[in-house]
Amino acid sequence: MHNRAACSKRWRWGRRGGALCVSACLLTTAALAQTLDVLHWWTSGSERRAADYLAQQLAAEGLEWQDAAIPGGAGTGAVKVLKSRTLAGKPPAVAQLIGPAINEWGRLGLLLELDTVARGEAWREQLFPTAWRLVQYRRHTLGVPLGIHRINTLFYNRRLFEELALPVPRNWGEFEQVARQLQARGIVPLAQSSEPWQVATLFETLVLGEGGPEYYREAFVQRSPRAYTDERMARALLRLRQLKRWMNPQERPWPELAQQVARREAGMLVMGDWAKAELNSLGLVTGEGFSCVPVPGTHDYHLYSIDTLVMFRGDGSRQSAQEKLARLLVQPAVQLGYNRLKGSVPVRRDLDPAALDVCARASWQAFARGPGMQAPSLVHRMASEEAFKDAVVAQIHRYFIDDQVNAAEVQRRLAALARALGTEGGGKHAQNPDR
Ligand code: GAL
Repeated sequence: MHNRAACSKRWRWGRRGGALCVSACLLTTAALAQTLDVLHWWTSGSERRAADYLAQQLAAEGLEWQDAAIPGGAGTGAVKVLKSRTLAGKPPAVAQLIGPAINEWGRLGLLLELDTVARGEAWREQLFPTAWRLVQYRRHTLGVPLGIHRINTLFYNRRLFEELALPVPRNWGEFEQVARQLQARGIVPLAQSSEPWQVATLFETLVLGEGGPEYYREAFVQRSPRAYTDERMARALLRLRQLKRWMNPQERPWPELAQQVARREAGMLVMGDWAKAELNSLGLVTGEGFSCVPVPGTHDYHLYSIDTLVMFRGDGSRQSAQEKLARLLVQPAVQLGYNRLKGSVPVRRDLDPAALDVCARASWQAFARGPGMQAPSLVHRMASEEAFKDAVVAQIHRYFIDDQVNAAEVQRRLAALARALGTEGGGKHAQNPDR
């Protein structure tokens, strides 16, 4: 992805009348001045394609995307690397940083303000308000939202369902009927990994299904201890345990689950719609080879994760390149091209949803219903800061792998966590008063 496009060959006459080509030095200067290293966690086949697409768009603009991808679903490794690079005084020019963390890094004065770009491109008017607010800190724009993922998505192998004449499950009763039939045929009903973040991703979807967005926010954004001793939390925990009988959970990276569904080893998968892009990259067409519905109980809701890039302040030499990148990423054509490959939907509300596939259209429309129907993903860093998220994920994982741990005990532990790390005692969180 070297930026040859930016370097035109120039000929000039030397002293003795011979023509000299000066493109080589122009190339070096341009490449040095215009290289941006980008730290992110997109390493699966489809994620790579989406990142490469962005790199190509940048190359056409005379910028080089120098890739610093750190493997690990949900950014478990990337965020650690970002912290240590920053502590070592070597932050990248650009990094994937999402949710309230943008505020925290902004408060430390580490991020470049993108106000000129945001104003010039009318982001405030064109972006979904939730996406816009996420990148605001003290009236400054500190990030570039790229795409909105829907997490409460139930994928199913459509061809398999058709062949077996299985109905698409719209509630848990139907889900169980379908699961029983799949299991009777030796197919794992629900693909699931025991990786902590993947278990917790399923769990937060179940919490949304049991309690709706308001209750979900009480638990994961306001972190009210009462929400954890509530009956709805008990039901979500019970559902998680009951679902185990339809799975064969082993610790696997999430792209392998998409492969299981593609190969018909598993019939269904609950996962953010980055899995849609992975299924596409395995050759399955959305709405044909596979399709999707909202997870039972979450039909009208949108459990979201908004991928966002931030720019780090440096000595100023990279600033114009960083601003160019920011401007480009929100352009309508780039938004459509990137999100199609990534599985998410554009952050712009001025796009025609007819341009989207059937799953993306449903996601975009659900999100467009507004904040009352939206819930920020805890696991994907939209609801709360890292420490609280990690502590909840650990508790849920423990409950999931060990059937001896009972739900009431988990509820007590989570309530204690909420008391210790919660916002009722004055802590900071997604609804930051600084905004
Ligand atoms: C999410 C992220 C997605 C996808 C997923 C799996 O946190 O928003 O873009 O990469 O993790 O790693």
